[in-house]
Amino acid sequence: MSRIHILSSTDRPGSNALKVSKYAERYLTKKAETEIFSLMDYPFEDVVGGKYGNTPDSVKDFNSKFLDADGFLFVIPEYNGGFPGVLKFFFDYLPFPKALELKPVSLIGEAAGAFGALRPVEQFEQLLKYRKAYIYPERMFIQRVNDSFDPESGINKEILQKLLLSQLDGFPDFVEKIKSLDVSVDA
Ligand SMILES: Cc1cc2nc3c(=O)[nH]c(=O)nc-3n(C[C@H](O)[C@H](O)[C@H](O)COP(=O)(O)O)c2cc1C
Repeated sequence: MSRIHILSSTDRPGSNALKVSKYAERYLTKKAETEIFSLMDYPFEDVVGGKYGNTPDSVKDFNSKFLDADGFLFVIPEYNGGFPGVLKFFFDYLPFPKALELKPVSLIGEAAGAFGALRPVEQFEQLLKYRKAYIYPERMFIQRVNDSFDPESGINKEILQKLLLSQLDGFPDFVEKIKSLDVSVDA
């Protein structure tokens, strides 16, 4: 069985990102071992002042636990038309260049606004492509998240809920397939 780690990509207390992460986990866990990581638990206080090239042990520990998986789901909110700054902080302290190289990554956006974090998800995809991840083509953008998403029942629009469940059902299979290819960076 593959292992999929989920990142709730904000440190905002009470975030919808964490609620969506928990909802997604309930489905992913049918086909994969899962664990949720939240940037609320990231040791930001240890990287103040710029510790690039001298990564603190607390950050190495967070990163190595998060990266110990076959696939990754990022749940990304929209802040000012982009993804949260803390997600970039997290990304910049991942081991370079291999952290997510040739790793399957799935993406869910959620926002208060009408575009459901389309912008931040697509911005983050640019980073993932640069770092050579395999992006799962089915993505979900949860628009008007405060009205449209329920932590127990998911999205209250049937067609969107179907798409969300299709993504969550298909991603573990995608992870298994990539794993079975046994691709390596130097191949
Ligand atoms: C700093 C900040 C900036 C935000 N900017 C946007 C925005 O540009 N567009 C939008 O639709 N919602 C915006 N929101 C609302 C979030 O999308 C909303 O809080 C949503 O629940 C996702 O964030 P959460 O996971 O922190 O709850 C912003 C929220 C914060 C805290």
